[in-house]
Amino acid sequence: MIVTYAEIDGFKNLSGVSFAPDPKYNVIVGANAQGKTNLLEAMWILSGCKSFRGSKEKDYISLDGQKMSSAVKIQDSVREQKITFEMTKGTNSQKLIHLNGVKQRGTRALFDVFKCIAFIPDDTDIIKGSPEKRRSFIDMAASQLNPVFVMHLNKNNAIMNQRNALLKEISQKNAPADVLEIWDRQAAKEGALISWMRSEYISRINEICGRLYRTISGGAEELTLEYKSNVYKPEDFEKPCGEEAEEQYYRKLRETAEYDIRTGSTHSGVNRDEVAIKINGVSARDFGSQGQIKSAALVMKLAQAEIYMKKSKDAPVVFLDDVMGELDENRQRFVFDMIKDMQVFVTTPNENALLPEIKGKILRISGGRITEEQDVSAHRE
Ligand SMILES: Nc1ncnc2c1ncn2[C@@H]1O[C@H](COP(=O)(O)OP(=O)(O)OP(=O)(O)O)[C@@H](O)[C@H]1O
Ligand SMILES: [Mg+2]
Repeated sequence: MIVTYAEIDGFKNLSGVSFAPDPKYNVIVGANAQGKTNLLEAMWILSGCKSFRGSKEKDYISLDGQKMSSAVKIQDSVREQKITFEMTKGTNSQKLIHLNGVKQRGTRALFDVFKCIAFIPDDTDIIKGSPEKRRSFIDMAASQLNPVFVMHLNKNNAIMNQRNALLKEISQKNAPADVLEIWDRQAAKEGALISWMRSEYISRINEICGRLYRTISGGAEELTLEYKSNVYKPEDFEKPCGEEAEEQYYRKLRETAEYDIRTGSTHSGVNRDEVAIKINGVSARDFGSQGQIKSAALVMKLAQAEIYMKKSKDAPVVFLDDVMGELDENRQRFVFDMIKDMQVFVTTPNENALLPEIKGKILRISGGRITEEQDVSAHRE
């Protein structure tokens, strides 16, 4: 799919931005703090996802303005659709979303309309950050493929919230300890399914990451991803997920129940899962160089795009925020080769640091406004 038109006003420092993107490459050029990332972010939020840099929704509105609006037209293999997102200060910052002119209750309908993948410098947190970062990467990527997965994750989260609240009640003697077992039975159903889905997704992404990382490192290095379930051993996943798996999960929850009551939180199950990411057999988090960590994060995102591409005839739109300049020419070529069939928006302070074959549109941005639009190839001749 491609963005055919974008119009943004009052989003952070952006004002009066409107342009018709190139179907292939769009290079957003500007000095620091001019609004390059804001421009990507203003489009990204129309995919129904939260800000890729963790901004709060109320901060979408310009500090000295009253109202923000962001709109895109998305063309996929079937039709063109229009998404608009508006917010006004004061009205509890409530967002107003329209799809093809029809008011939407929430962002759910947007997931299917506008698919995008963002590469940002913080992606290295998938490798370097807490286990939660790795779980949420896997869960988000797997959810894009299979919306049923989101349903189980949400159910499990609801059960865990109830369970954790109950743990406190029990420790204060406001509830009997055996009530916990009812929740543990339910948690076991969801937890077993989530474990099997995570295991399957991780083994798929592991295969692709292995191949991509071998290429990006010139065959010299091996990247592996391994699911470290808090409940199951790797060989358990060779069997289908069934009653035995649920029973095993339930027993694990029971094992830590007493400790959970004392501490007021759950210490076993999928919320304690980990993904071991290794380069040449040792932990990338503990031993990886900066370049290795950057490459591994990049490869994991590219693998996500590849898995998605295999499933859908519409390729996602790719946002590359400030990641190209940090890569050497070979690695840039590798990335562009992987995303050659997708529409790309790339930000950079210096367009000459990009590969010469990137021909498309340049959008120069300064003080939150587009000051100039031109064809990249014309500019370089
Ligand atoms: N709510 C807001 N209202 C007004 N300005 C804002 C708001 N939020 C952020 N800004 C400003 O927007 C400016 C541009 O931010 P942005 O992150 O897009 O810059 P950038 O061009 O990507 O810079 P860099 O090259 O450093 O990454 C910053 O100066 C920031 O202070
Ligand atoms: Mg930026």
